Amino acid sequence: MTTTDRTPRKLHVVTHGCQMNVYDSARMTDLLRPLGYETVAAPEGADMVIINTCHIRERAEEKVFSQLGRLRKMKEEQGGNMMIAVTGCVAQAEGEVLAQRAPFVDLVVGPQAYHRLPELIAQAHRKAGAVIDTDFPVEQKFDYLPDDAAPQGVVSFLSIQEGCDKFCSFCVVPYTRGAEASRPVASVLAEAKRMVALGAREIALLGQNVNAYHGEGPDGSTWSLAQLMDKMAEIEGLERIRYTTSHPNDMGEDLILAHRDNIKLMPFLHLPVQSGSDKILRAMNRKHKADDFRRIVERLRHVRPDMAMSSDFITGHPGETDADFEETMKLVRETGFALAYSFKYSPRPGTPAASLPQVEEAVKDARLQELQGLLREQQNTFNASIVGLETPVLFTGSGRHPGQIAGRSLWLQPVVVEHETDLTGKIRMVKITRANPNSLSGTLLDKELIAA
Ligand code: 5AD
Ligand code: SF4
Repeated sequence: MTTTDRTPRKLHVVTHGCQMNVYDSARMTDLLRPLGYETVAAPEGADMVIINTCHIRERAEEKVFSQLGRLRKMKEEQGGNMMIAVTGCVAQAEGEVLAQRAPFVDLVVGPQAYHRLPELIAQAHRKAGAVIDTDFPVEQKFDYLPDDAAPQGVVSFLSIQEGCDKFCSFCVVPYTRGAEASRPVASVLAEAKRMVALGAREIALLGQNVNAYHGEGPDGSTWSLAQLMDKMAEIEGLERIRYTTSHPNDMGEDLILAHRDNIKLMPFLHLPVQSGSDKILRAMNRKHKADDFRRIVERLRHVRPDMAMSSDFITGHPGETDADFEETMKLVRETGFALAYSFKYSPRPGTPAASLPQVEEAVKDARLQELQGLLREQQNTFNASIVGLETPVLFTGSGRHPGQIAGRSLWLQPVVVEHETDLTGKIRMVKITRANPNSLSGTLLDKELIAA
């Protein structure tokens, strides 16, 4: 591969894993656009394919290797004219091993180094074998990203914090994403304003530990997430703010009160608790008890009575007995979740829990089924509780069927309304008439609404 001209080139990006990867993929696309790369929907015929990977559980990693197998064939069929880049957390964790196991890969780039992509691509053009960059550079990648991001739409995601210092026993994130780092307030506000100018009405602030945000403020002092969101609320045209993902130990009182005082902050929180058993929480190195989580939920619901909760759970962490699992079920029953994600524990290489005696696969499975049954029931109950309400909906585009428009509720539920006129970007009052398994249906009310 020796082309250096600026003729349009086809770029295909595959994204696995979390919202941060979705954001990173978009920014990589922004970085490559000035070099003549235009995105295409399929890998066939592409000049460059980026697989932005996830390492959180084994299944996510397996998907990457099966995808690489298919790309290898395609690359051969194209006479070698396809640059293949593996980015993200598998790239970070596997580095050299990945390059050896998949020698047709041209670039291996960790999540902290992707701002160097243009330079790395140039290197890959010159060099046989893979170019690997899994450094944690001293410069912040956020400072090196172009200002002309492509619009994301009415709902936009904005990365403000990366990395994790918590070292939960099961988790690879502290190893793949590195130490906690927060983006300066001015840079976040500038990007938020750009997003709003491009049509964003709702912004979700992203970070592996977003509520541990401690960014440099314009006055040189350190700002908390609550302070940052307070300032964001002043942005005209921005109607809704969310943040994800959070840790219970960083749920400070100012953040809890922000759910009462910041009118643009939505009454929905994703707060992973992982387990309801204090013994397992200790084994997980979570540094909080189940009751700490209960107290946070209670405080949140006290300051904001319509607060809906979401969480993550793991079944079958090493040491989990039937009684421990029962504690998790009890916590779920007591809390009542609007939404939740649950996973079977998956041993990750290099993490402390991976070297402990493991719970049997069938037991992990059975517990996951039981937990998911309860969580599904709670989601249905929550959705049903919204039926009959008159509530603001932010419209994001057209629905799946002609004559329908779609939006989202305050609590993140998709809402579908029969309506001919496009209301994209507008907030309107809707009477919710039905709860479907994964969405709500409603009718438009003839009421003007300025803010959420
Ligand atoms: N096995 C299963 N689930 C995991 N998670 C993180 N690491 C693992 C693992 N090794 C889950 C946690 C976390 C979510 C993003 O993924 O619940 O909150
Ligand atoms: Fe992983 Fe725990 Fe950090 Fe979350 S807080 S990213 S689960 S180590």
